[in-house]
Parts: sequence; structure tokens; C-alpha cells
Amino acid sequence: MPNTRALHKRPEPEHVAIIMDGNGRWATRRGLPRLAGHKRGVERVREVVQACPDLGVTHLTLYAFSTENWKRSSAEVNGLMRLFRWYIRKESAKLVEAGVRLRFIGMRERLSKDLQVMMTQIEELTAENDKLSLTVAIDYGGRDEILRGMKRMVEARDAGDFDIADLDEASFGTFLDTDGLPDPDLVLRTSGEVRISNYLLWQAAYAEYEFLDICWPDFTGEVLADCIANYGQRDRRFGAVAG
Ligand code: FPP
Repeated sequence: MPNTRALHKRPEPEHVAIIMDGNGRWATRRGLPRLAGHKRGVERVREVVQACPDLGVTHLTLYAFSTENWKRSSAEVNGLMRLFRWYIRKESAKLVEAGVRLRFIGMRERLSKDLQVMMTQIEELTAENDKLSLTVAIDYGGRDEILRGMKRMVEARDAGDFDIADLDEASFGTFLDTDGLPDPDLVLRTSGEVRISNYLLWQAAYAEYEFLDICWPDFTGEVLADCIANYGQRDRRFGAVAG
């Protein structure tokens, strides 16, 4: 299939996706409980969300809880769930005021009912906002998303709503959780680990990656600005030759 993507000439990434890693290590190194790292991590989320519009970023996707994170202690899992609730409750007015649209990707069924309701409510409350689209991945795994997308596609075909003859990259994308979002241009991971951990496997096929040695609780708006400046120096070719 010919590569039809236009060469990306925009100096700043439209869509930044982040793997917010290293909260636990950040806390442990300071003799604090792991949850203290996650709490500081939420503060960094607020700072980064605020910084995006001025940096030209219109879409931000954050990996908050993976399909594998259920394996952690129940104290940590419950603490993270409390933080998600706290963030939604505390930030909803500010997100509306700042024109941020908040969406969630991932499975929802395994989350508690009250959290599911809060997630739907804030999605509805912010649905018309267009200054920044913020997507939070909770109980998310890229392979799981692709499998769920395939099931949706087969169901649509069985219902007579989708013809397999029309299957291509764009039409398959409409069955994924990220339907309507542009692909990420830049994926960042903190904490020094160099892996993608099942994050946006389909969507980040052509993304640029940057792996940072700092832990997420040390990630600031200035660090984001530096990453965006580095991205501006890269030559994105999407498989074509340099022009
Ligand atoms: C990875 O660090 C981080 C997580 C599994 C949780 C990320 C969640 C937040 C930053 C808070 C909530 C976010 C929102 C959007 C409200 P780790 O615990 O794996 O760190 P480690 O590798 O050092 O143990």
C-alpha cells in the first residue's frame, strides 16, 4: 500500500502521549510510601495539562493505569482509584474553564460503578471543549484495545453496518477507543525505562519517541517544552525519503 501520509512539517507535535513512569521509585528514594509518588504525579498532570495549549499541543494522552496494574497491592490499586476520583471531582470546574475536553480510553467494566459514572459525567460535561483534548488511559492495554476493536468490527459486520471490503487502516481506527483522535506525533516515557509497555500500539506506529531519565513526579512544563523543541529538530519521513 502506498504511504499516503503527508510529510509532517509542523514544528510542534499536535498530539503528545506520555507514559508517566517512576512514581513509585521517586517516592521510595525519598523514604515515602509509593502513593506519595502518585499524588505528586497528579500535580504534574495538572501542570502539564496547563502547559500544553501555549506549546501548541492540542491533544494529550496520559497512561494512568494499565491492564497489568491490577497486579499491584490492593492498597496501591485502591489509592490510585481514589486519586482518579479526586482528580475528576477537583478538576472538573477548572477543565471546563480552561476549555479542556476529557475522555477516557480502556476497559471500563472492571472499574467500580461510581468511578464509571464520574468518568461518563465528566466526558459529557467537557464534550464541547476544544482548547485541549485530554485523554486518560485507565485499565488500558494496546493489544486489548485492538482485540476489542476487532470484536466491535465483527459485530458491526454481523449487524449489516460494516462491509469487510471497506476495511482499511482508517476504517479500522473507527472501532478503536481512540476513534476521532489524531495519531500521537510524540510519545514520551519517564523513569529511564526504554519500552512502550503496550501503549497505543496501533496509533503510535509512526510516532517519534523520547525516553527521559527523570521520574514522572519531576516532569514539569519546562521539561515538556524541551521535549517539544527536540521534536522540532527531528526529520519525520513516514517511510519516505528525505526531501
Ligand atoms: C507508573 O509509576 C505510574 C502509574 C502506574 C500511575 C500513574 C498515575 C498517575 C500519575 C496519577 C493519576 C493520573 C491522572 C490522570 C489523574 P510506577 O508506580 O510504576 O513507578 P515505579 O516504576 O517507580 O514503581
